[in-house]
Amino acid sequence: MTLLRIVLGLVVILAIGTAAFIGYAWHSRLDPIDPPAKASLDAKLLARGAELAAIGNCNVCHTAPNGEAFAGGLGIPTPFGTIYSTNITPDPETGIGRWSEEAFSRAMRKGVDREGRHLYPAFPYDHFTLVSDEDNRALYAFLMTRKSVSAKSPANQLPFPFNVRMLLAGWKALFFREGPYLPEPGRPAEWNRGRYLAEGLGHCGACHTPRNRLGAEISDQHFAGAEIENWTAYAIDSGSPAPLPWDAESLAFYLRHGWHDRHGVSRGPMAPVTANLGAASEADVKAIAAYVAEVMGRPSKERLAQGEAALAAARQEREAAPLRRTGETGNGAGEAIFVSACQGCHDGRRPPPFGGLNLHLSTAVNAPNAQNIINVTLYGLPAARGEPSAMMPAYRGVLNENQLVALLDYMRERFSRQPAWTDTRERVSSTLRGERKVPVYRMDGTTHAPPETSMRTAPWP
Ligand code: HEC
Ligand code: HEC
Ligand code: HEC
Repeated sequence: MTLLRIVLGLVVILAIGTAAFIGYAWHSRLDPIDPPAKASLDAKLLARGAELAAIGNCNVCHTAPNGEAFAGGLGIPTPFGTIYSTNITPDPETGIGRWSEEAFSRAMRKGVDREGRHLYPAFPYDHFTLVSDEDNRALYAFLMTRKSVSAKSPANQLPFPFNVRMLLAGWKALFFREGPYLPEPGRPAEWNRGRYLAEGLGHCGACHTPRNRLGAEISDQHFAGAEIENWTAYAIDSGSPAPLPWDAESLAFYLRHGWHDRHGVSRGPMAPVTANLGAASEADVKAIAAYVAEVMGRPSKERLAQGEAALAAARQEREAAPLRRTGETGNGAGEAIFVSACQGCHDGRRPPPFGGLNLHLSTAVNAPNAQNIINVTLYGLPAARGEPSAMMPAYRGVLNENQLVALLDYMRERFSRQPAWTDTRERVSSTLRGERKVPVYRMDGTTHAPPETSMRTAPWP
């Protein structure tokens, strides 16, 4: 009798749980529409939509290499398999031409497509959920007026059970908090604007916050730094490894221009982010910078003093004769390579973005690992197309594994106060073997660099 009651009780609980889950997991299909006439969308809304799309990097993920803008088909590698971005041009068959504004806003807010299927969070709707209805309207208008391209994305390569979209309801129940953004009262309007953009459309945390095993960002390690596409997205919280502490002003300059004279250029997956922010409004970029500077916090006296020391060391090297060997570190092999191959461009005589940063000022040598220097050294910095930009030659095929390890150990010892890296050889060899696949980005992020000739003098005293 009691056993039967327990079993019945369990069945009832299970039934209620399943019904609640299905209620949560199930979304209706929204009716297709005839694509809106372009003339019906006003120019101001479109301009706003273009700026917002730049902040959201929609072009970066929704454009395949050498493909048409927004036509999708880029494979996004995740620990679970490859997920392909979709076509978000107004093509009625393969794009979102038949999506109403309601369907588009629902995708952004809830991560559900027009048919009612759950979308993978490789589409960063865990951030985009914060976007306001008004901004979604502008984004929708912008996308619906792009060139219509007929292109079908390849099928995702996900093993069972990750290919079951219904299970994403469980992921959402655990990790997804639906927006929109609610301004924090008592905070300045610029801070709220910056937070809205950085946490929402700008999805900075998608790369700068570490993820748990189920691919969700770890909330109490917000902006603490992570690895993405085999590049290190440095910490941009109080643990920032930058030798000279960032502030709102330097962040705003870097985010908008893709470089800063005391911090170097933005590389790897950050390069398209800053290239896009160059197209956003100055006020919005300033707001993002003000918010991020606040997350980083005021640097301690000790950090400020270390920054001054780094600047002094850089200044001294700039004044001293170039191409000298000091023998300071006892790593003769590393020093010989640095002095002959690198120092000529990195002694600080020719400032960034066209000259190499003096590495006393480099976040890369102070980072928790050498990966970004490995990437930059092996693949160089390919110049932007058709305009003056930073560039650095590639040393793949020039330096072998032992030489590269010696060079990196030397750079860490000479330019940073941090302890030696311990995983450098493993990183160098797996990158050389192609096991760590490193996407290489052109330096289009520095398109806003000033004309080269005006940059030949040192910017800092
Ligand atoms: C980090 C990469 C990334 C960025 C940035 C990104 N998307 Fe996506 N998006 C994806 C992926 C991947 C999918 C497919 C997800 C899936 O199949 O479940 C997707 C799907 C979508 C969909 C659903 C389309 C469909 O046919 O189901 C819409 C709408 C969309 N994105 C709009 C945008 C907009 C607007 C932006 C910019 C504000 C943007 N995306 C930025 C990766 C991205
Ligand atoms: C697609 C991934 C990605 C996104 C999105 C992204 N970042 Fe980054 N970010 C990186 C990587 C990778 C680096 C390291 C680049 C390098 O070595 O130059 C970086 C570097 C930076 C740096 C330089 C830190 C230093 O000390 O040198 C800052 C500041 C920064 N990001 C801020 C932001 C902000 C603010 C946002 C959101 C608006 C953002 N990032 C979005 C990947 C990303
Ligand atoms: C022809 C000039 C040139 C040579 C030679 C060169 N670089 Fe660079 N390098 C650059 C430029 C330009 C940049 C972009 C500006 C910047 O950020 O330093 C850069 C960037 C870098 C960065 C990123 C610095 C930062 O934190 O912003 C590292 C690390 C680096 N180079 C390492 C090396 C190493 C190691 C060598 C030698 C194997 C080398 N470079 C040789 C021109 C050069």
